[in-house]
Amino acid sequence: MTALFCSIKGLSVRYGWETALDSIDLDLIVGERVAIIGESGSGKSTLARALAGLLPEEARIEGKISWPALGHAPAPGRDFGFVFQDPGTSFNPVLTIGEQVAEGPRQHLGLGWRQAFARAEELLERVGLPQPKNLMHAFPHQLSGGQRQRVAIAAAIAARPALLIADEATSALDVVVQAEIVGLLDSLVREEGMTLLFITHDIALASGFVDRLAVFRSGKLVEAGAVHSVLSSPANSYTAALIASHRDLSTPPMITGRAS
Ligand SMILES: Nc1ncnc2c1ncn2[C@@H]1O[C@H](COP(=O)(O)OP(=O)(O)O)[C@@H](O)[C@H]1O
Ligand SMILES: [Mg+2]
Repeated sequence: MTALFCSIKGLSVRYGWETALDSIDLDLIVGERVAIIGESGSGKSTLARALAGLLPEEARIEGKISWPALGHAPAPGRDFGFVFQDPGTSFNPVLTIGEQVAEGPRQHLGLGWRQAFARAEELLERVGLPQPKNLMHAFPHQLSGGQRQRVAIAAAIAARPALLIADEATSALDVVVQAEIVGLLDSLVREEGMTLLFITHDIALASGFVDRLAVFRSGKLVEAGAVHSVLSSPANSYTAALIASHRDLSTPPMITGRAS
């Protein structure tokens, strides 16, 4: 059975004369992994911010976003976890890793510091970081980019959000680390039953593990569909060009099956 997690209807976002998103209709199913694909400036981050209610004041918004599966108005941090491209800017340089990961459980799960720290340590282990006990006392600058992104993921899922939004979360990493982080997101999302919005300019990377692709261009949703159908018979010429630019995508990749 499929349950509707989120329904976006006629969503437009404008900044002055600039249209960042133009009449977007898109549904997300509970537990589904959807990739938002598009070049820089196509409106991907605007969509993520609109979903999370985090658009800047100057944005003019039309349309409707509803959350049938949540049953309440969504709150960032509790209902959504975010992972951004550069965790360097989302971490506070003077707080320890432990303090930063414990903040979510403290705020949103009502845990005291002691329990929140215990949960943080558990989460660091969960995201595959070595020696989580020691890491709790480390500062962000002491970690590699890949390790920082694992910490960012731990922080993002700390309050058990229903939706994880990864906005170019692997774009600053080299390909090997990128593959590791995608593997981690894939298994966490399955195990926790989260819905995933994986935002990237890289159609090849996303196609290896998501269920559905939504291709954006200049603020418009030009095509959406199951990965294999979009790759094998793209309906839009822009999508076809994107696919053609990746030699390894001209034959559809193996789609990983869902864990039962
Ligand atoms: N705060 C803002 N003020 C003005 N224009 C913005 C703002 N945020 C985004 N835009 C514009 O909206 C468009 C979409 O941006 P964005 O959603 O960040 O694209 P993407 O994430 O796909 O690179 C771009 O043309 C960008 O310049
Ligand atoms: Mg962006």
